Amino acid sequence: MYTTDKPILAPSILAADFTQLGNQISLCADNGVKWIHCDIMDGHFVPNISYGPMIVEAARRAYPDGFMDVHLMIYNPDLYTDAFVLAGADLISVHVEATPHLHRSIQNIRSKGIQAGVAINPATPIGSLEPILPDVDLVVVMSVNPGFGGQKFIEQTYSRVRELVQLRETLKATFRIEIDGGVGANNIKQLVQAGADVLVAGSSVFGADDIPKRIKELQGLMDESKSMTI
Ligand code: DX5
Ligand code: ZN
Repeated sequence: MYTTDKPILAPSILAADFTQLGNQISLCADNGVKWIHCDIMDGHFVPNISYGPMIVEAARRAYPDGFMDVHLMIYNPDLYTDAFVLAGADLISVHVEATPHLHRSIQNIRSKGIQAGVAINPATPIGSLEPILPDVDLVVVMSVNPGFGGQKFIEQTYSRVRELVQLRETLKATFRIEIDGGVGANNIKQLVQAGADVLVAGSSVFGADDIPKRIKELQGLMDESKSMTI
């Protein structure tokens, strides 16, 4: 398990050049990135199909020491938990909107010995997560409508992060807060200041002409911001 109190950058390989996937993951690994965000889409829960366990397995082969953060944007996620664990997931997040038995889904993931996360869409009230918060390692706050990379950041996300930080304190819970969608140099500092712990960045990282330079830039902004909040 990868633990740190520093903000974590989690590049989403959805935005990677799939003809160079191994090399691009190695670029991340060689430049201090630990978490790799893997977006799984079924074409039903979200209006797009991305990839399955075999790409997570390929990412694991490309980065054996990496932390595979798997985001399931699929209905009936329980059907596929084992396949993603086998593929090398370190953490699996399921959407609160995609399963009628969220507590069982989280228990099922944790029973495999990996971390469990819950993801929440922009219009779903943060308060609806309260019952599950003591049982998760991560809350994925969607800052775009799930299904595609390269979308515009939803500004209401800041207040949702602050609401979640408040809830975590009240419940004495220990989950990390991940922001997912439209994250880049223009908002990453403010997101850390609002309380974000993990920042997913797809097009901002893999759309850059110089990926290592962009990783260093984002990492620097996060570290700068963290020192300001202490
Ligand atoms: C969207 C995914 C995000 C997305 C992030 O459904 O969950 O992880 O890939 O990509 P950017 O950073 O380009 O918005
Ligand atoms: Zn995602």
